[in-house]
Amino acid sequence: MSETKETPSRGKRNTILIALVAVAAIVTAIVAALLVNVFERKQEAKNRYVRVVEVTDETTDPTIWAKNWPTQYDSYKRTAESTRTRFGGHGGSEAMPEQKIERDPWLKRMFGGYAFAIDYRDRRGHAYMLSDQEQTERVTKKPQPGACMHCHASIIPTYRKAGNGDVMAGFEKVSGMTYQEAHALVEKEGHLHPVSCPDCHDPNNMQLRVTRPGFINGIAALAASSTPTPHLPTIERWRQGDKKKPYDPNADATRQEMRSFVCGQCHVEYHFPGEHKKVTYPWHNGLRVEQIEAHYDEIKWTDYKQAETGAPILKAQHPEFETWSQGIHARSGVSCADCHMPYERVGATKVSDHWVRSPLLNVNRACQTCHRYPEEEIKARVDVIQTRSFELMQRAAASLMAMMDATMAAKKDGVAEEKLAEALQMQRRAQWRIDFVAAENSMGFHAPQETARVLAEAIDYARQGEALAQRAHLEHTGAATAQLPSSTPPAAGPQVP
Ligand code: HEC
Ligand code: HEC
Ligand code: HEC
Ligand code: HEC
Ligand code: HEC
Repeated sequence: MSETKETPSRGKRNTILIALVAVAAIVTAIVAALLVNVFERKQEAKNRYVRVVEVTDETTDPTIWAKNWPTQYDSYKRTAESTRTRFGGHGGSEAMPEQKIERDPWLKRMFGGYAFAIDYRDRRGHAYMLSDQEQTERVTKKPQPGACMHCHASIIPTYRKAGNGDVMAGFEKVSGMTYQEAHALVEKEGHLHPVSCPDCHDPNNMQLRVTRPGFINGIAALAASSTPTPHLPTIERWRQGDKKKPYDPNADATRQEMRSFVCGQCHVEYHFPGEHKKVTYPWHNGLRVEQIEAHYDEIKWTDYKQAETGAPILKAQHPEFETWSQGIHARSGVSCADCHMPYERVGATKVSDHWVRSPLLNVNRACQTCHRYPEEEIKARVDVIQTRSFELMQRAAASLMAMMDATMAAKKDGVAEEKLAEALQMQRRAQWRIDFVAAENSMGFHAPQETARVLAEAIDYARQGEALAQRAHLEHTGAATAQLPSSTPPAAGPQVP
C-alpha cells in the first residue's frame, strides 16, 4: 500500500522538478531576449540619433540635417528625379511638366475667367514645389497673396518672426502680404526651401509633428463638428472629453494618424477668406464633397464667375486627404506614409523612404507588405480603378460642357441671367464635383466608390442644369413647355445618413 502511495508522490516531485527547470529555462530565455532587444533598441536609437550637428526649429536647410540623417536625406533629394506612370508623376526634369488644360480642353473651358485657364500643370516631386510656384503664370501674370507660400516653402520660422514669437499671428500677417513681399521675406531670412525636415519633425526627438497653421485650425474645426470620423479614432475620443482645449494633433493624435496628418498639412482643399487671406481648410461640416460645399454655401464663398455663363464657381484644390478619408485604406488604418514612404532596409536598420512619389513605382514595398499577390496583378487592379474613374470623369465633363452649351444658346437668344440662375447653381454643383475628382491626384484610387458617387452626382446636376437652361430658353422663345420633362431642383446635396 505504501508503495502505491509512494510512487505517485515521487512521480509528483519529479514532475514539479521538471516543471521548475522548464519555467526557469523559459524565464531565462525571456530575460535574455528582453535584454538583447533592449540593447539592440538602445543601439538603434543611438545610431539613429547620433548628432553630428545641432538642429533646431530654425534649421530649415535640409543639408544641415543631412549630416545627422544622411540616409533619409539621400532619399529626400531624389524627389528631384523624373518619373512617370499612366495617371501620375508626370515629369520631373528641368523642363516644365505637361499642361493639364491642354490635355483636357474641358478643364480650360470650365476654368474660363480664372487663373487656372492660363497655366495648370501636372504635379511633380517635392523638390520642385517652390520653383514651380515661382514660375507658374498664375503667379507671374496674376496678383497672388503671400498665403500661397503656406504649402510651398519651409515658412514656419518666418511666421514666428513676423508674429514676434506667435506663429498664428505671423501666419495671418504673412498670408495677407503680396506673393512677392512674402517671398522676399522668406528669402531674406534664409528659409526659401521646399518642404523640409522641421516641417514634419520635432528637431529635439525626431517625432512627427504638424506645423502648418491651416491644418492645425482645420483639423480642430473638423473635431468640433459632429461628422463621424471612424478613420481618425482620436478625434472621436476627444469628442467624448470635456472639449475645453481644441483638438491638437500634436498632443492628441496617434503615431499612425500623424503618418497621414503630416501630408494633410498641404494635400487638401483650401481657400483664402477675408482681408488677411488666411489659409483655411473648409472642414467645419466634415470632409466629404457636399459637406465642404455646404460650408462654402453657408459663408457665401465663390472663387470666380465663370467667364461664359457667369456661374458662381468653386475651385477644388488637390483634396487627397479628404478623398483618402473616404476610402477603405483609411478605414483600415493605412496611412499616406504606408504607401508613399514605405520602410526600406538600409544595412541593419529600417528607414522610411523619403523619396515621396507614386507607389506604383515601388509596389514591392508600398503594397506587397500587405497584399501578397504578384506585382503585375496589383498594378492591374489599380489600373482598373483608375481607368473606370477616368472614363466616368470624361463623361461627367461632357455633360458639363453640354450644360454650358445649353446655357450659352439661351443667353445668345437673349434669355436674362436671372432666368438662368437655377441652371447656373447646377453648374456650380456639377463643376465642383468634377473638379474635386480631377484635382485629386490618384485618379480615383484613394477612394474608388466615393469617386464614382461624386461623379454620378456631377452628371445628374449637369443634366438638370441643361434641362433648366433649355426650359428657360424655350419659355423665352415662346415654344411649348409642356413637352419638357419637369425638373426637380434639390437645393443642397443629399442627406448624409
Ligand atoms: C493604399 C495606398 C495609398 C494610400 C494610403 C495613399 N495613397 Fe496616394 N496614391 C496611391 C496610389 C496607388 C496612387 C496612384 C499613383 C499613380 O497613378 O501613379 C496615389 C497617388 C497619389 C498622389 C499623386 C501621385 C503622382 O505621382 O502623381 C498624391 C499626391 C497622393 N497620392 C497623396 C496621398 C496622400 C496625401 C495620402 C494620405 C492622405 C495618400 N496619398 C494615401 C496610394 C496610396
Ligand atoms: C508643405 C506642403 C507639403 C507637404 C507637407 C507634403 N506635400 Fe506632397 N506635394 C506638395 C506640393 C506643392 C507638390 C507639387 C510639387 C510640384 O509639382 O512642383 C507635392 C507633390 C507630391 C507628390 C507627387 C510626386 C511626383 O513625383 O509627382 C506626391 C506623391 C506627394 N506630394 C505626396 C505627399 C505625401 C505622402 C506627403 C506626406 C508624407 C506629402 N506629400 C507632404 C506639398 C506638400
Ligand atoms: C494648402 C496647401 C497649398 C496652398 C495654400 C497652395 N498650394 Fe500649390 N500645391 C499644393 C499641393 C499639395 C500641390 C501638389 C498637388 C497638385 O498639383 O495638384 C500644389 C501644386 C501647385 C503647383 C504645381 C501644379 C500646377 O498647379 O500647375 C503650382 C504652380 C502651385 N501649386 C501654385 C500655387 C499658388 C499660386 C498658390 C496660391 C494661390 C498655391 N499654390 C497655394 C498645396 C498648396
Ligand atoms: C513630409 C513630411 C516629412 C519630411 C519633410 C521629412 N520627413 Fe522624415 N519622416 C516622415 C515620416 C512620415 C516618417 C516615419 C515616422 C514614423 O512612422 O514615426 C519619417 C521618419 C524619419 C526618421 C526616423 C527613421 C525612419 O526613417 O523612419 C528620420 C531620422 C527622418 N525622418 C529624418 C528626416 C530628415 C533628415 C528630413 C529632411 C531631409 C526629413 N525626415 C523630412 C516624414 C517627413
Ligand atoms: C498596411 C496595409 C496595406 C497597404 C500598405 C496597402 N493596402 Fe491595400 N488594402 C489593405 C486593406 C486592409 C484593405 C481592405 C480590404 C481588406 O481588409 O482586405 C485593402 C484593400 C485594397 C484594395 C481593394 C479595395 C478597393 O479600394 O477597391 C486594393 C485594390 C488595394 N488595397 C490596393 C493596394 C495598393 C495598390 C497598395 C499599394 C500602393 C496597397 N493596397 C497598400 C491594406 C493595405
